[in-house]
Amino acid sequence: MRSKMIIRGGKSLNGEVTTQGAKNAALPVIAAALLLKGKTLKVKHVPKLEDIYTMADLLRQLGVEVRHVDHSMVLSVPEDLCWETPKALVSKMRASSLVLGPLLARMGKAILPLPGGCAIGSRPIDLHLKGLTKLGAEIDLVHGAVHAQAKELKGTRIYLDFPSVGATENIMMAAVFAKGETIIENAAREPEITNLADALKLMGCKIEGVGTGIIHVEGTDNLNETEVEIIPDRIEAGTFMVAGAITRGKVKVKNVMLEHIDATLAKLEETGINIEIEQNAVTVDARDCKMKGVSLKTLPYPGFPTDMQPQFTALMTIAEGTSVIKETVFESRFLHISELKCMGANIELQGNTAIVNGVSKLKGAEVRATDLRAGAALVLAGLAAEDETTVYGLGHIRRGYENFEDKLRSLGGEVEELPSEENGDSKW
Ligand code: UD1
Repeated sequence: MRSKMIIRGGKSLNGEVTTQGAKNAALPVIAAALLLKGKTLKVKHVPKLEDIYTMADLLRQLGVEVRHVDHSMVLSVPEDLCWETPKALVSKMRASSLVLGPLLARMGKAILPLPGGCAIGSRPIDLHLKGLTKLGAEIDLVHGAVHAQAKELKGTRIYLDFPSVGATENIMMAAVFAKGETIIENAAREPEITNLADALKLMGCKIEGVGTGIIHVEGTDNLNETEVEIIPDRIEAGTFMVAGAITRGKVKVKNVMLEHIDATLAKLEETGINIEIEQNAVTVDARDCKMKGVSLKTLPYPGFPTDMQPQFTALMTIAEGTSVIKETVFESRFLHISELKCMGANIELQGNTAIVNGVSKLKGAEVRATDLRAGAALVLAGLAAEDETTVYGLGHIRRGYENFEDKLRSLGGEVEELPSEENGDSKW
């Protein structure tokens, strides 16, 4: 059912919120279950999100028995797997491509229709395919689907032209049963990759160098059943930190790994708002303080995360002065800008750079979420804005935030979800 969020803005958010398990860590760990044979993987702290359900359905289609028990997922993998992934599921989510590496490693073949995902650029998977080819896979594109096969994968040295998160994960999983050692150079260093590597190590894989940019995977024959924990979601944590800041409130975000949110914390601190840090929690206190515009550039980890750029851009719309926000990871991740401008923001877009001149107030408007984090940014803007904001396209937000409305309400946000007859709508 299509739905919209009505936000009656202008109220400070105050209170505590606990971070969910990381979507982007859970997705590859669930895909890694495909490496098991006649065994079970238990994954704990899995968030209840649309993207996770899509990955679970995808694995079911391949023959895996998937059970959810609250926030745990139990994946029982049969001896034999189907290797053809259905277009209907793959086209829903780009992260579906993460089954390619493990399927190829386990079954020697895989068919994957080219994946879909958020509307934030062309997002090819050429680096995934280049890496798998280097490992010895033959890859053909047939009617828009990747057909990959390999009698045997062989360890090799793979240099990634860009430290792609998905390509690093796919190649790491494909290399698990390859003969000899695989070295991935210019590998991504995101915490979600470390979570996947830790899961693979618990399954019996030999992996070193994760987090350094050069990953070594030593091929093995057999993997064990195990239990894996998903790390806290650093992007959800950052989103709630901005929620406190943008509404001039005081919000404590619990269950965070501080080292994972360094860049976001540094930029929030630079605005002049107060930040209190405890062992696993951060409190953002933006009451009675000036908030000045700060500039940033998105970069692969440990740089400022592209997944926090829309939310931070929303925050900058009401900061004092000018901030220059440069997006270097995705080429067209600025679809939220036109919507923020409808709300009274003063933003000039120059190529991959947004120049934001702070205004004193945003005004409620009807806006549309075009992707997951853009959607979050519009909700944050709506919470800060005068009067009522309607955010359409909530389906995008549900892909990444569990109980978003409930969590916002628990902090005092006035948000309401209603069915949306989008066709009959004046704007949409
Ligand atoms: C992952 C995250 C996503 C985040 C992104 C960057 C998951 C499920 N999603 O996405 O939330 O925004 O990291 O932190 O973990 N690229 C290529 N060719 C490739 C692969 C990537 O050109 O084969 C480009 C992409 O188009 C993009 C950039 O590299 O411009 C980064 O993409 P990548 O790091 O692969 O992101 P994802 O793994 O898709």
